[in-house]
Amino acid sequence: MGGSTGCWVSETLRSSIGKKGLMAVTGLMLFGFVVIHLLGNLQVYLPDKQALTQYGHLIKSKPAVLWGARLSLLAIVLVHAAAAILLAMENSAARPVKYHVRQWREAGYAARTMIISGPLILAYVVYHLLHFTTGHAHPDFNPDDVYRNVIVGFQNKAVALTYIVAMVMLATHLSHGLWSLCQTLGFNHPKYTPALRFASIAVATAIGAGYISIPVSVMLGILK
Ligand code: HEM
Repeated sequence: MGGSTGCWVSETLRSSIGKKGLMAVTGLMLFGFVVIHLLGNLQVYLPDKQALTQYGHLIKSKPAVLWGARLSLLAIVLVHAAAAILLAMENSAARPVKYHVRQWREAGYAARTMIISGPLILAYVVYHLLHFTTGHAHPDFNPDDVYRNVIVGFQNKAVALTYIVAMVMLATHLSHGLWSLCQTLGFNHPKYTPALRFASIAVATAIGAGYISIPVSVMLGILK
């Protein structure tokens, strides 16, 4: 049975520890994407206004690499979501009501809302692709001018606010995700636990702030 990749994935998804492991590995990969994408986007602040656009052209100049990365990302998102849904179903089926209630009280806001912030981030990404990648949700899209697409896109205050809310959600999701990742990987020493919890929140906040700075800078006229 375990011969093909499909069987391996379904076997792993069936075991609880397998699901947590898959969540951790795919979560780490998505985290990597979020960091790289942020660094790419921060080029919007470079004095050379063409830097972001040239970066966009560079990515698109190798269609095989681009589509390989896109399909890999899609597969990673699907496995991450499937493992999350299965784990949530397993947890609610296994826990007696009293324990369930206690867990909810003990878990932080980010932990309780993971199963909601996850799908909302996914919905945001779909909108984001229609906005900046295909241009279907953009008022004046130019596939050859990424910098202008970003500035014009965020000059609409409702759009900028939508991004800000989505980025706050992303930071909340990441803060708990990074913490869970440390737990799954076994970094669970009483001495380091508070530091890891703090580090997860700090890294997630820095990433959220980096992304949020872009629509805010456009709204304030710093980027134009
Ligand atoms: C202020 C926040 C953000 C800005 C300004 C931004 C900007 C952009 C731009 C300009 C593109 C199109 C690039 C191109 O066509 O050359 C893009 C693509 C993309 N962004 Fe973002 N992004 C932001 C946040 C995010 C976040 C938080 C995520 C994920 C959670 C994300 C995921 C993606 C994905 C998956 C693509 C498509 C890449 C591709 O396949 O071409 N973005 N983004």
